[in-house]
Amino acid sequence: MDTQLERRVVPIRWIGNVIHGHLEMLDQRLLPVSEVWHRMATAEDVAAGIRDMVIRGAPAIGIAAAYGLALGMREYVGRDQGEQVASEFERLALMLAKTRPTAVNLFWAIERCQMLAASFEGSSRELVVALFAEADAILHEDCENNLRMGRFGAELFNPGARILTHCNTGGLATGGYGTALGIIRACHAAGKLAHVWVDETRPYLQGARLTAWECLQEGLPATLITDNMAAHFMKLGQVDAVIVGTDRVVANGDVANKIGTYGLAVLCKHHAIPFYVAAPISTIDLATAHGDDIVIEQRPAQEVTHIGDRRLAPEGIGVAHPAFDVTPADLVTAIITELGVARAPYAKSLVELIESA
Ligand code: MRU
Repeated sequence: MDTQLERRVVPIRWIGNVIHGHLEMLDQRLLPVSEVWHRMATAEDVAAGIRDMVIRGAPAIGIAAAYGLALGMREYVGRDQGEQVASEFERLALMLAKTRPTAVNLFWAIERCQMLAASFEGSSRELVVALFAEADAILHEDCENNLRMGRFGAELFNPGARILTHCNTGGLATGGYGTALGIIRACHAAGKLAHVWVDETRPYLQGARLTAWECLQEGLPATLITDNMAAHFMKLGQVDAVIVGTDRVVANGDVANKIGTYGLAVLCKHHAIPFYVAAPISTIDLATAHGDDIVIEQRPAQEVTHIGDRRLAPEGIGVAHPAFDVTPADLVTAIITELGVARAPYAKSLVELIESA
């Protein structure tokens, strides 16, 4: 599948050849005001980029970690003492895995590279070439899977669809197309999209800063709202469906996603509006039984008390900042994947979908 045309907005790129080239990340903290690409020379740089939110979004951080492992092992080219190379690989894998706890794609991508390295029999140089190829494959497969997901998702909509979305799930959060925003793009391409409601997504403002910017880049008809306006527009009958991405779907169908997602699902139930989740198979974690078992990242208080450098709240106030919440499966109308659409009971339908691959 040629994904070139669809990858207008990308979060990460490799410049040059495997041995002498370098990785660059678009600094998502600075968007939409400035577009700055940072050079990432080492696995430590990549880990810092994930931890500090230069790159974010579940699939994108998995892709970054895979390139990080390849970059880290590049420093070992020529030193072919097997044990030292293996222990260095595990050190880097652990360092990258510790960057963010909730999105399962990070661990999925690292495990995929670990499996490759564990069974690898060539030189350290050949291992690096194979790790780069694996990182490239993870990126391009993600984009192809998003395109497939987009086609499945667009089939669920009639012309004139007015869709509300939360956080950023577009090219910036993925290999370059998008999960929930990818489905919205596919609806647009199919002539079915009337309008996108973009939740600003307090407190980190991924919606206001990133999704709004991507909608403009893609020419999608969009309106930015604050999160607390969603109920109002639902009551007015101006929202036909909500589509969100996810950081982890567990075996019973519970869905972890950006804080505020659960509230939207509750609102959808009240207003009898479908609540769809776009989830690549790499985001489905059948090893975790229940949403209560998902580790929710707690982020700095300053992201709540400040906007940028400007303080809004009084010093000394207590602050809570869970970055994600868990939507119970019974509020989810359907989970859209690249293999098809799963519906309740998810404990059965997710396994069937995965086994159908
Ligand atoms: O904290 P972030 O910005 O990494 O959170 C991102 C989200 O919650 C997205 O909705 C999710 O990763 C799906 S992205 C395709």
